[in-house]
Amino acid sequence: MSYKISVEKAPKSHVSEIDFKNLPFGKYFSDHMFVADYYDGDWHDCRIVPFGDFSLHPATSAIHYGQALFEGMKAERDEDGNPIVFRPLKNWNRLNISATRLAMPTLPEELFMNALDKLLTLDRAWIPNEPLSSLYIRPFMFATEKYVGIRVAEHYRFCIFTCPVGAYYTKPVKVYISEKYVRAAPGGVGFAKAAGNYGAAMMPMQEAQKLGYDQLLWLDGIHHRYFQEIGTMNIFFVIDGVLVTPGLDQGTILDGVTRDSMIRLAEDEGYIVQERDISVDEVINAYHEGKLEDMFGCGTAAVISHIGAFHYKGEDYELPPVETREMSNKLKKRFMDIKSGKAEDVFGWIHTVPVGVYANQ
Ligand SMILES: Cc1ncc(COP(=O)(O)O)c(C=O)c1O
Repeated sequence: MSYKISVEKAPKSHVSEIDFKNLPFGKYFSDHMFVADYYDGDWHDCRIVPFGDFSLHPATSAIHYGQALFEGMKAERDEDGNPIVFRPLKNWNRLNISATRLAMPTLPEELFMNALDKLLTLDRAWIPNEPLSSLYIRPFMFATEKYVGIRVAEHYRFCIFTCPVGAYYTKPVKVYISEKYVRAAPGGVGFAKAAGNYGAAMMPMQEAQKLGYDQLLWLDGIHHRYFQEIGTMNIFFVIDGVLVTPGLDQGTILDGVTRDSMIRLAEDEGYIVQERDISVDEVINAYHEGKLEDMFGCGTAAVISHIGAFHYKGEDYELPPVETREMSNKLKKRFMDIKSGKAEDVFGWIHTVPVGVYANQ
């Protein structure tokens, strides 16, 4: 089935009002958004419209029962100025995995990619040129059916909007290992990018921030011993030259696009990579033996965010200076060079938006 996407252009672009040299994360929104509605078992009314508010019925079921999910990815420009997107099919696939877990409809690849290409063609002037800046892309879906009562909704809305953004974290983060709160347990929704996962993490995060930490490092929900992830990033450790990250097998962590890319880059660079359970005890022992060389989080927003220090059971553990962290600095540089089209895309990760196909529509 082919989906036609109509376009209603914004009467006036406000791109010239934006200071691209000073871009806080997620504050400015580009001129257009893509919207599609799901009813009668399929997606309808696929449209690009001027960016603006939705009007929602008070009984809109997502607001009450939480069938809501989102995605996040980034567009940059290649050396010729063409919009490029990093591994959008991984995000499309994850969106459908989240949707399936939340009993929401999936999105056909063709609809997702055409919507993305068309929107980025129209709003390509919003892709920043400044180093470390990019156009953040936010696809999301929520249940729109108007009813009160717990059952799977029959109506949904899918939308994509974009925001020009600057660098996310600029300095190493201090993280707090939570013994009290849990983000995910086997059988739950930890692997899905469900909106509710983020809502449930707000209060624990607020508590950690009040104590002077930037983020929470989550442990597993059963033993409270094994690392899961940091706030909105996957976690990596370098112990005695080996790159270690928790595996995906429990279904409790997000299958991060950056995580997967780091693993593949590290293997390509000849490093040993282990996807396995890793406990706080192991990390603290490695720390005392002088073998904990690095800890970092990775995700679309921050790319790599080095951990400067972590807190566990009343103690702060300081990590080596970022300049000495050879492996992660090397991986970050290569990752960013591929993502911005500067280094050879040996893995086929870059999607170039076919501007010529859509520019005149
Ligand atoms: C909970 C969580 N873990 C990990 C990630 C990193 O995933 P990705 O690299 O696909 O952005 C994110 C961000 O999307 C996240 O929200």
